[in-house]
Amino acid sequence: MTNDIDTTRRTLLTAGAAGLAVAGMTGGAQAQTANRLLEGQTVFITGAARGIGRAIAIAMADAGADVAAYDILTDIPDFPIPMATPEDMAETQAGVEAAGVQFRSYAGDIRDLDAQQAAHADADAALGPIGIVVANAGVNLNAGFLIEKPDTWSTAWETVTDVNIKGTAATLRATVPAMTARGSGRVIIVGSTFGRQGNASNPAYIASKWATQGMMKALAIEVGKQGVTVNTVNPTAVQTGFGGPRTQEQIDGSNAWLAANYHQLDVGLLQPEDIAGSTVFLASPGAAMITGTSIDVSAGAAARYTA
Ligand SMILES: NC(=O)c1ccc[n+]([C@@H]2O[C@H](COP(=O)([O-])OP(=O)(O)OC[C@H]3O[C@@H](n4cnc5c(N)ncnc54)[C@H](O)[C@@H]3O)[C@@H](O)[C@H]2O)c1
Repeated sequence: MTNDIDTTRRTLLTAGAAGLAVAGMTGGAQAQTANRLLEGQTVFITGAARGIGRAIAIAMADAGADVAAYDILTDIPDFPIPMATPEDMAETQAGVEAAGVQFRSYAGDIRDLDAQQAAHADADAALGPIGIVVANAGVNLNAGFLIEKPDTWSTAWETVTDVNIKGTAATLRATVPAMTARGSGRVIIVGSTFGRQGNASNPAYIASKWATQGMMKALAIEVGKQGVTVNTVNPTAVQTGFGGPRTQEQIDGSNAWLAANYHQLDVGLLQPEDIAGSTVFLASPGAAMITGTSIDVSAGAAARYTA
């Protein structure tokens, strides 16, 4: 039953965000399969082994796109939060292949430009021209300016900015030239509501996510005339492995706090599938004229911080 509801929700989220009519709903149990808006396309997604990246991979697959998934699949030295595993990537593969599309995965760090260029070239040759790129991989480590742990402070500023800024830039450099050469493409960067406002506990992350907003603006201007659109999707807090393992009590606390203080909708932590539909939309024909901008998937948090 839970799976039925999850599947229905996934279909609705993808179809709804793509502006499709979903007919024939009875009691939430049946959904018309969304049109395969991205049939024949290939998408390259970083951080696709779990969390939001996996949900995007599956939503893109449900919309008909073949998927190239890139993820580090090993822990980052001296970084305390566990990264995804090969087993996580196998789950992404199963979800993507259930949609009847092709899948290839690559183990590598987004900071490694050569590895991403090699993965991109292999996927482009094996799956077909990559016309959609989702730069999703990222990390966070809380270390406020007044933190009394110097090691945590330096790890936050070295690793978080390195991965989120230089790593995201490397993803774009590895993948965008093939799009401009072909005269079309869609780039979607997964930012954060924390790239749109401040927060006290994680300045390195906040700075890095404001940087990806800037990167999006710069790239949109550089490649617009070559037919490539560039946008960000900015999630609010989502229930993933992003902050490391959490107890049910901590999750319940986050849900209550978010619903009471941050979100306008009556919801706590979002689920990864809540974010994925917006990326399918930005890759779809309906978004052809949208570039250089953001979609805040914020459950209404944006109502307090943007015009
Ligand atoms: N979870 C949230 O609350 C939240 C909120 C706003 C934005 N985001 C953003 O969403 C994106 C995905 O986060 P998530 O919540 O799914 O987290 P997650 O930790 O579950 O997933 C991140 C994925 O990226 C991979 N990854 C991390 N560093 C990498 C590197 N250097 N090279 C290659 N792969 C790497 C990890 O292995 C993992 O599979 C991130 O950019 C994050 O900043 C998350």
